Amino acid sequence: ALSSTGTEERTLAMIKPDGLSGNYTDQIKIIILESGFNIVSEKMFQLDAESAAIFYAEHSGRSFFPSLIKYMTSGPVYTMILEKSDAISHWRALIGPTDARKAKVTHPNSMRAICGSDSQRNCVHGSDSPQSAAREISFFFGELSTGISTHDEL
Ligand code: PPS
Repeated sequence: ALSSTGTEERTLAMIKPDGLSGNYTDQIKIIILESGFNIVSEKMFQLDAESAAIFYAEHSGRSFFPSLIKYMTSGPVYTMILEKSDAISHWRALIGPTDARKAKVTHPNSMRAICGSDSQRNCVHGSDSPQSAAREISFFFGELSTGISTHDEL
């Protein structure tokens, strides 16, 4: 299940706390499969403040950082390794702009337009580069991810 061909690419997709509390998981997974992605691995996590701060370390200097960490630890997240050719850019195109309020105007069929609310509560995440994808996949699914409490039982 973990093998891949040379033409395929992997990205880290995450359903954020508002996506889970809004019960969008099934709808999102249907879109993922209908769009031709293979879900290589999937797992529910409850992030704590320390792990969320590591995941979003590149934004640690932003004014919204404390709010982002509080939000991202407010409930579980659902993470998936998605695979297909050009997975990173295809997933980013599917989810749409960061600010869900703008997405509703400019990209009304995007995932964030459908299930998000604003720049913080924007329902889904996607890696923005091959480097980010490698780091984020390793963060959630690599050997060092064992310190993050999992919610497989949920
Ligand atoms: S920005 O403003 O261009 O840097 O935004 P972006 O790089 O796309 O966003 C990076 C992540 O930060 C989240 N974000 C916010 N959270 C809370 N409040 C505000 N105002 C805010 N703006 C951006 C945004 O949801 C991005 O999260 P991910 O998970 O990477 O999509």
